[in-house]
Amino acid sequence: MSTKTILSGITPSGRLHLGNYFGAMKQHLDFIEKGDAFYFIANYHALTSLRDGELLRQYTFDVAVDYLALGLDPEKCTFFAQNDVPQVTELTWILGTLCPVSLMEKGVAYKDKVAQGLAPNIGLFTYPILQAADILIYHSDIVPVGADQKQNLEISRDLAQKLNNTFGEDLLKLPEPYIVEDVAVVPGIDGRKMSKSYNNHIFIFDEGKVLKKKVMSIQTDATALEDPKDPDKCNVFAMIKLFADKEMRNEIAENYRKGGYGYGHAKKELLGMISDYFAEAREKRKELEQYPNRVWEILHEGGKKAAARAETVMQPIRETTGLR
Ligand code: ADP
Ligand code: TRP
Repeated sequence: MSTKTILSGITPSGRLHLGNYFGAMKQHLDFIEKGDAFYFIANYHALTSLRDGELLRQYTFDVAVDYLALGLDPEKCTFFAQNDVPQVTELTWILGTLCPVSLMEKGVAYKDKVAQGLAPNIGLFTYPILQAADILIYHSDIVPVGADQKQNLEISRDLAQKLNNTFGEDLLKLPEPYIVEDVAVVPGIDGRKMSKSYNNHIFIFDEGKVLKKKVMSIQTDATALEDPKDPDKCNVFAMIKLFADKEMRNEIAENYRKGGYGYGHAKKELLGMISDYFAEAREKRKELEQYPNRVWEILHEGGKKAAARAETVMQPIRETTGLR
């Protein structure tokens, strides 16, 4: 069986939180062993809503350092920034010429963002075309993403098919989505979905007093310490489940049900788990932060590798469409 190309993009919106880790990054890291992985930081996509150069650079760096610290090995995959592959914008234009306006008008992500108050600019409107180019330019086979990206993947397949049909050649490969559906939604401090936009997040690399303060403020109900508690209704336990092995999970659940075990106990347990789980990565992050040039160099090297692959896909498209 030939090696599969795996691809995913991460929007640079600053440091990553526990929801990002368990909902996306962990799968990305696991997938590296399963094929030829391409992971990129979607800085062009970020521009649809972020207009501060210093901040975009910082966010891009933060995401890169987080991934590297958590064990992404740049020797084992291609890790890069989206804008280092100019073929992506070239393909975006060509796909745009084939994309019916009505397909974009059906975009739920666009409608959501406009409803949230973002200015309805053309970049936001055609976001899925850029995403399709990201995917198709490497002949990707598998695209691991969260359920919210399902429609964008369908659009990618539609556009690949359109280009192939229009020019009567198999110029682009249709990717398979790999929707990570069974990943539980990680709750935030207030019990809603953990998200930057709710400001209820715990960053992966929070530590010391900051981490303690956040963990201690996770919302719980008012059941008294001595009373039995239902672990499945508790935000603290929902987080403990992410870190603990089966035995530990059962033991803590049992403590909840027995009574005499307070939420404070559970929070202390969770605090220790978060600290231990990311201890090694935390050290690595501190080291990487001291050598920012090394981090940018890794991204640029990855960009060269990615652009070389993109060029092999783009070349026949230029010829067939008559651009060369
Ligand atoms: P945010 O809501 O903080 O802006 P993003 O939408 O940028 O996060 O999420 C990036 C990735 O992390 C997505 O693939 C998403 O599936 C995953 N993710 C984000 N928050 C959570 C969460 N609370 N639980 C599980 N996965 C999450
Ligand atoms: N839209 C994705 C998100 O918000 C990020 C992204 C951009 C992406 N291009 C991609 C994901 C290509 C997968 C493949 O999370």
